[in-house]
Amino acid sequence: MATRVHYSLQNGLWLLSPSSSFNPRFNFIRNGLRFRPNLFTSSSNSAALCSCAPNPSLTTIKQQEKPFVLTTPLYYVNAPPHMGSAYTSIAADAIARFQRLLGKKVIFITGTDEHGEKIAAAATARGSSPSEHCDTISQAYKILWRELDVAYDKFIRTTDPKHETIVKEFYSTVLANGDIYRADYEGLYCVNCEEYKDEKELLDNNRCPVHLKPCASRKEDNYFFALSKYQKQLEELVLLNPDFVQPSYRLNEVQSWIRAGLKDFSISRASVDWGIPVPNDKKQTIYVWFDALLGYISALLEDKEQPNLQMAVSSGWPASLHLIGKDILRFHAIYWPAMLMAAGLSLPKTVFGHGFLTKDGMKMGKSLGNTIEPNELVQRFGVDAVRYFFLREVEFGSDGDYSEDRFISIVNAHLANTIGNLLSRTLGLLKKNCQSTLPVDSAIAAEGNAFKENVENLVEKARICYVNLLISSACEAVIEIGNAGNIYMDKHAPWSHFKQGGAASEAASKDLVIILEAMRIIAIALSPVAPSLCWRIYSQLGHSKDQFNAVNWSDTKWGGLKAGQVMAQPTPVFARIELKTQGRMKAKQQQWLTRLPKAKEGSLGLKLQLKPSCAAAHYLPIIEFDIFTVLCH
Ligand code: MSP
Repeated sequence: MATRVHYSLQNGLWLLSPSSSFNPRFNFIRNGLRFRPNLFTSSSNSAALCSCAPNPSLTTIKQQEKPFVLTTPLYYVNAPPHMGSAYTSIAADAIARFQRLLGKKVIFITGTDEHGEKIAAAATARGSSPSEHCDTISQAYKILWRELDVAYDKFIRTTDPKHETIVKEFYSTVLANGDIYRADYEGLYCVNCEEYKDEKELLDNNRCPVHLKPCASRKEDNYFFALSKYQKQLEELVLLNPDFVQPSYRLNEVQSWIRAGLKDFSISRASVDWGIPVPNDKKQTIYVWFDALLGYISALLEDKEQPNLQMAVSSGWPASLHLIGKDILRFHAIYWPAMLMAAGLSLPKTVFGHGFLTKDGMKMGKSLGNTIEPNELVQRFGVDAVRYFFLREVEFGSDGDYSEDRFISIVNAHLANTIGNLLSRTLGLLKKNCQSTLPVDSAIAAEGNAFKENVENLVEKARICYVNLLISSACEAVIEIGNAGNIYMDKHAPWSHFKQGGAASEAASKDLVIILEAMRIIAIALSPVAPSLCWRIYSQLGHSKDQFNAVNWSDTKWGGLKAGQVMAQPTPVFARIELKTQGRMKAKQQQWLTRLPKAKEGSLGLKLQLKPSCAAAHYLPIIEFDIFTVLCH
C-alpha cells in the first residue's frame, strides 16, 4: 500500500530549508548541539529566518557546572516490566553511579510512557480505566527499580500535568515556526511499535518484523511534522559529530536512513482519545512519540516550579546521554534532534543504542510474551548477581541470549570465587594471625611490589572502559584484579609463612594487607555495577556506610588502608548459587557410592575433579571411579 501525504496548511514555505544558513561552527553549546530557527515569529516567515545563533531566551542555563544528564527510555505501561526493560535501567544506573564517583552532578532520568492506543487497549483488556491502569504499572516500575538498586533522580510520567504543559508549549512553538501542517495520511500501522511502517520493511502479510503481528491499514487526517525540512542538518549532524550516535555501527544505520531521504511524519491521532489534546485542534491527540520524547525535558522541572519550557531547559538540558534499545534508534537519532532543532533547543550529546536481550534468538518482550521476570531472578539469585551478569555477559551494544546455566556459572566464578573467597580467606588469615587488625599501611606494604602496579593499571583500564560505556570490559578489568589477587595469594602462601614466625610472618602479614587493599579498590571500581555487594566488601574492611557513600573514583588510588584499621568479623559477602539439579546430582552420586562393593575409603581410587567445561556443574566435584582399582579390590 502506498503512503500518501497531502498538504493542506502552511504548504511549501518550509521547503525554504534553513540549512542554507546552517553553520556547524555554532553547533556545540555546553556539550549539546544547538540548532535554532527564530522563535516566536510568524509561521510564514520562520523557515526563511532560521539561524544558528544562540537564542538568548533559552540560553539562560543556570550558570553552574553542567550536570551529567542521563536518560533511559520512558517505558510503555502496557504491561509490567520485564528483564529486557530492566536491562537499560541497570546499565543507565551503572553509568550514573560511575559519573557520580567521578564527582559529577548527575541527573538520572527515567519514567513511564503512558499515552496512546496501545496503553488504552491494555487498560481495557484489564478492565481498568487508562489512568488507574497507568498508576498500577508505573508503580510496578518504581518498585522494580528499588529492587534492582536503580537509583534514579527523576521519574517522569507522561500523564503528569507538568509534562502535558511542556508538550503543549513545545507543539505550539514548532507550529509557530511553521514546521507543523495538516494532511491526510494512509499507511500501515504497528500498534505495538506505535509507528507507521514502510511497506518495504514488513514481513509477509504485512507483519511487523519486531512484533510479528500484522500491521493495520489506517487512513487519517493528521498533523504532520516537517521532518524532511531537516534533511541537510541531520546529514551534517551525523557527519560532523560521529559521537552523536553510538556504537559506530548504529551510526552507520542512522546515516543510511538519512541518505534514503527523510519523510515528514504524522504527530497527531484523530482516532485516539488517550493522549494530550493538540493545542489547535481538540479533536486530535498528540502522537505518543512526539509526546514521550519531551519527557526527557519535562523531567528536569522541579516539583514546585511553574512548568514552562524555558524553566525545564535551564535545569540541565541538553542531555549528555540517551540510553536506548536499538529498536527505538530512529526516534531518538532522527525524529528527536529534528524536533529540537524546530523548537530552537540544543541537541543531546550522545544517543547510545544497545542490543536486545533475547530468548532463543528472539527479542524478549511484552508483546511476544517470551520474557524473564526480573523480580524472580532477584529473589532467586540476588540483585548483585542479576546486575553483574547482564552487564558483564552482554557486550554493551550487542544482543545477548539469557541462559540460566551461564548465569550461575559466571556469577559463581567471578563474584563467589574470585572475589568472595579471596576476601574471606584473607580476612580469616588476618583474624587468626593479626587479630583482624592491619599491621602496616597498604602503601608501605606494597613498596616496590609489581602487584600494586598491576592493580593500578587494571583500575585505570576499568575507568577508561566506563568512560567509553564499555561496561562489560570494565567488569572484566576489575575481576582481573581479583584474579591477580588469587594468584598472588597462592604464590606467596602467607598461611605457611605465618607458621615460620619472624620476618616470614611479617612478610605474610604485609601480603594480607596488599590483598585487602586490592579488595578495597575492587569495592569501589565494581560499585557502579554491583553496589550492594561492594558495600558488603567495604564493610568487611571495617568501613561505615557513610564512608562507603562518600567514596569517589580517586579513592581507587593505592594506599587507602592504613595501619591499625580493624576489619569486621569475616562473613561471606556473596553466597555461591547452588542449582537444585546440582543437589540432585550430588544425591545420585551418593546413592552410587553406597551401591558400590564395600571398600576402604581411599582404596577406591576416587578422584575429585573440577570440570570447567560443563557450565552448570562448574564447581561441582565430579567423582570419577577408577574402575580398575574397584574391580581388583
Ligand atoms: N515508550 C517507548 C520509549 C519512549 S522514550 C521517549 C518504548 N518503550 S518500551 O517499553 O517498549 O521499551 C523501552 C526500552 O526497553 C527500549 O529501549 C527497548 O529497546 C528496551 N527493551 C525492551 N525489550 C528489550 C529487550 N528484550 N532487550 C533489551 N532492551 C529491550 O519503546
